[in-house]
Amino acid sequence: MNAMVQEPASSASASTAPAAWPLPARALTPATGERRIHFEPMSEADLDAVRAVEVTAYAHPWSRKHFQDSLQAGYPAVLLLGEALPGEQDKAVMARGHVVLGYLVAMPGVDEVHLLNITVAPAHQRQGWARFMLDALVLWSRGQQAQWLWLEVRESNEPARHLYRGYGFSQVGVRKGYYPAGHLQREDAVVMSLNLVAAAATRDAR
Ligand SMILES: CC(C)(COP(=O)(O)OP(=O)(O)OC[C@H]1O[C@@H](n2cnc3c(N)ncnc32)[C@H](O)[C@@H]1OP(=O)(O)O)[C@@H](O)C(=O)NCCC(=O)NCCS
Repeated sequence: MNAMVQEPASSASASTAPAAWPLPARALTPATGERRIHFEPMSEADLDAVRAVEVTAYAHPWSRKHFQDSLQAGYPAVLLLGEALPGEQDKAVMARGHVVLGYLVAMPGVDEVHLLNITVAPAHQRQGWARFMLDALVLWSRGQQAQWLWLEVRESNEPARHLYRGYGFSQVGVRKGYYPAGHLQREDAVVMSLNLVAAAATRDAR
């Protein structure tokens, strides 16, 4: 994925982003741990904040246009926002009066969802937010009757590959030279998928 997994395909059929992104079960109470969090659909007005996080999180960040194209295509795109803790407002990236913990952009297909971008603001990494956003995306994807969740990740992106492996994604292929890597170099993408039906069956059997 980002960074970009894939350029948003502006020709793809538009889908409606959910009015309310599902909160995973453990977040159904308003307070999770130390701060209140919630999802908001990403909009054009959020893109300054999103880009401020994006450029600190990636060597090859998505441009503003990548986000705009995704929003215009109607792809589900959400912000994970947190209540600001005392003294945090001055140093955190803020949107809508809340701290931007992370965001994701996905592209729905016929019976699958393709995760295009998932990012956690550097100051908030290793606190479980990426897993939390994946939980929400899985819930939403199941609600769309999707059977598969797909993504690409840079071969060198060990944190993300750890995340996806640990979450249950399997490597299904490699796209040679998929990503720009600076100095006219290219980097391979590892293609991964999660079978949402099998994952649900495993969960229900527990
Ligand atoms: C990859 C990324 C989304 C992970 O977000 P995060 O909120 O820090 O991840 P979580 O806290 O939910 O971690 C879940 C698991 O992912 C793995 N993981 C996350 N960061 C890791 C790191 N730096 N090194 C190794 N494993 C890591 C671990 O297995 C972790 O579980 P653990 O903390 O119980 O060991 C975040 O590092 C990020 O935004 N990176 C820059 C953008 C990016 O690369 N996005 C993915 C593009 S494909």
